Amino acid sequence: MPSTSAPPDLRVSLGSRLDLPTPIVAASGAYGYGEEVRDFGGSRDPGALITPTLTVAPRAGNPMPRTAEATAGLLHSLGWPNPGLDSFISDRLPGLRSLPYPVIASIHGETLDEWRILAGNLTAEGGVVALELNLSKVSRAGEASILGSIEEAVAAVRAETDLTLIAKLPAANVEIGAAARIAEDAGADVIAVSQGFPGVAVRLSSRKFRLPGVAGELSGPCIKPLALYQVWRAAQSVACPILASGGIMTGEDALEFLAAGASAVAIGIASSIHPTAIATITADLSAYLASHHLSSPSNLTGAALRHR
Ligand SMILES: Cc1cc2nc3c(=O)[nH]c(=O)nc-3n(C[C@H](O)[C@H](O)[C@H](O)COP(=O)(O)O)c2cc1C
Repeated sequence: MPSTSAPPDLRVSLGSRLDLPTPIVAASGAYGYGEEVRDFGGSRDPGALITPTLTVAPRAGNPMPRTAEATAGLLHSLGWPNPGLDSFISDRLPGLRSLPYPVIASIHGETLDEWRILAGNLTAEGGVVALELNLSKVSRAGEASILGSIEEAVAAVRAETDLTLIAKLPAANVEIGAAARIAEDAGADVIAVSQGFPGVAVRLSSRKFRLPGVAGELSGPCIKPLALYQVWRAAQSVACPILASGGIMTGEDALEFLAAGASAVAIGIASSIHPTAIATITADLSAYLASHHLSSPSNLTGAALRHR
């Protein structure tokens, strides 16, 4: 006899001001502005789309080549190509407003003033439900300096907006628990881990580095255990929700991240390989919850932390 029970309710809360229809989110930079995948993204929309990182001035991005294949991953150094704030507001926001799911803007300021300008203008324009602060700028200045810049950036943006703030932490050079605590204390509502990890690739035939800028960011399945580590550390360090990413390719991967402490997950590379990845992962999550008689994804969040 067919089951008559209702499908699980996939809605999740990211803090007190942001509810998403599902916990499976399109990661910054890997899903464009939504229009690119509108016709072939599959039967389930993302819980939200995080736009590619926006800066005040337009950026053309880094010289080619911008990517190098790695075992079970991709080393990339795009350089955050984006149209800049003014063009984003006039040319991109109208399309983003018409998407049938919430939009989160990823932003990066080179200075505190730029952080304020981005936050203030996007809040005034409306059309986005949250701001994700890309705090991943590589710095050789040491951990104390990186932690200080995280604190300053989050506090500056917090003073400009009531929107939900997601602090996307750097993948390296800081203890992730300390960084998460500083971001939360400065006003972040959600902690996002993980960014791509710094990496380097060499072309032996020419004895040169493969990327013109030498270092890139490593994404994909090869970083999954590193990203799970960051989620585990962050979950023990802060009370606010965690948005996880890093090599999530399947529903099972997403479930593991929830169990390690995430409230929602962002899908990057998987969408570039399979445009329907978010739909498939969402369907798998729903099926798992139903078969385990769990009424909400939040029942799974942190489950592994409780069973130690
Ligand atoms: C092609 C590409 C572009 C990306 N662009 C951005 C970006 O603009 N801003 C950002 O914060 N992260 C960016 N990321 C990082 C992803 O959002 C994500 O955090 C990371 O790739 C780990 O997830 P994944 O392994 O599922 O791809 C990018 C990743 C890729 C692969």
